[in-house]
Amino acid sequence: MKRLAISALLVTMCSTWAAPVWADLAFATSKNCMSCHAVDKKLVGPAYKDVAAKYREDKGATERLAAKVMKGGGGVWGAVPMPSNPQVTDAEAKKIVSWILSL
Ligand code: HEC
Repeated sequence: MKRLAISALLVTMCSTWAAPVWADLAFATSKNCMSCHAVDKKLVGPAYKDVAAKYREDKGATERLAAKVMKGGGGVWGAVPMPSNPQVTDAEAKKIVSWILSL
């Protein structure tokens, strides 16, 4: 437990010091997103670069995708749906989705 607290602290410290992209990746990792997603290859879920390419012209995408991240859902990328992610708040989901869409 102590170990976990220390690594959480390290992640927090690193995210304030390191380059923004790295900080957002660390944040997404700490929220468990990266166990199903990678930036540039498909894992269980789509590659974040593919998600960014798909919604590049879509102005409402951040709101919609952030809602989907929290509630879960499927039918866009294949047979496997994304489970809900109650570990992220609305603001956190939007932060991660904005990062994804910037890739
Ligand atoms: C258990 C695996 C899993 C986890 C954990 C997970 N995802 Fe997903 N994600 C998926 C799958 C599968 C899809 C494809 C769903 C579909 O086809 O509509 C997906 C789709 C997405 C999409 C695209 C949705 C669309 O409609 O195009 C985004 C954005 C996304 N995930 C972000 C996240 C974020 C942010 C987190 C962390 C809070 C996260 N995911 C955690 C499996 C996961």
